[in-house]
Amino acid sequence: MKTFVVAQKEHNALAKGVAQALGLSLIEPQTVHFADSELRVLMPDLSVCAGAHAIVVHSTAPPVQENMFWLFQTCHALQQAGVKKITAVVPYLGYARQEKNPDGTVGAMQLIARLIEAAGVDQLVTVALHDPSIVSFFSIPVYDITLAPFLADFFSQHYKQGEVTLVAPDEGAAAFVDQIAELMKVPSIYFEKERYAVDKTRVLSSSGVCNTTDAVVIDDIIDTGSTIIDVGRLLFEKMGCSQEQGRTVYACAIHPVFSANAVDCLQESMFARVWVTNSIALPKEKMFEKLQVINISSPIAQVVHQLL
Ligand code: R5P
Repeated sequence: MKTFVVAQKEHNALAKGVAQALGLSLIEPQTVHFADSELRVLMPDLSVCAGAHAIVVHSTAPPVQENMFWLFQTCHALQQAGVKKITAVVPYLGYARQEKNPDGTVGAMQLIARLIEAAGVDQLVTVALHDPSIVSFFSIPVYDITLAPFLADFFSQHYKQGEVTLVAPDEGAAAFVDQIAELMKVPSIYFEKERYAVDKTRVLSSSGVCNTTDAVVIDDIIDTGSTIIDVGRLLFEKMGCSQEQGRTVYACAIHPVFSANAVDCLQESMFARVWVTNSIALPKEKMFEKLQVINISSPIAQVVHQLL
């Protein structure tokens, strides 16, 4: 089947990498913004669509509503143009943190799942989905790439056994961090986090001590930066992981959402370096000195290759 990758021109570094790794062409539809903020997605060449498999690579990162709608409109346009199969690769899936409401009722993520399917998506590929239960909201196949083996390889190039402790900032991240730590054969600990308002949390005690020279705090998302910086501060101030003691704390997250003043807070934080992936394309104003971006086009391409 004729197959091509589709991505938004302005945010397509990851899509380019995936297309290149798979030897596929990349189509960049034009996005028109109307005065009232409505979007229109214009496919450049509709003749390529008939009977084809389209792989749409697009994270629904901030501005979430706009990017979500770009995904819906693009998939809808492809379907209308006669595409036979649509694989949506959405490395960062906005609304995934709203899998349920604080009162236990169904959250907005279930609606997003229905909208993705209604837009014509036949299969979905995501990366480090915030909660695995979200898969059950979909009736199409969902392939969630964990990245644990990929990050274990990446960190193994930086740290030897006995040099580093991997730290989960909350119990939700503990299983993921344990998986990386087991593969690397290094210790891991997690912190307990308490939510005291809908969008406010406080980090409490840790499950163990950190005896190694280095510590890497790993989370799925850095949004405002508050969770990861709170944990860094506890390691730094209460657990002796400070430069004066010859020890260094690093931060790592899969999805750099970077809202509010996260960029400034991270640059001024105790972290010696902040690693994130290119699951979200960062504009120039969100880049900072301590930031290092890890390219994940290869693990994504490996999974998509199996779906061709
Ligand atoms: C929450 O459960 C997530 O795993 C992250 O810890 C959270 O979204 C990070 O948000 P922020 O950077 O605003 O603390």
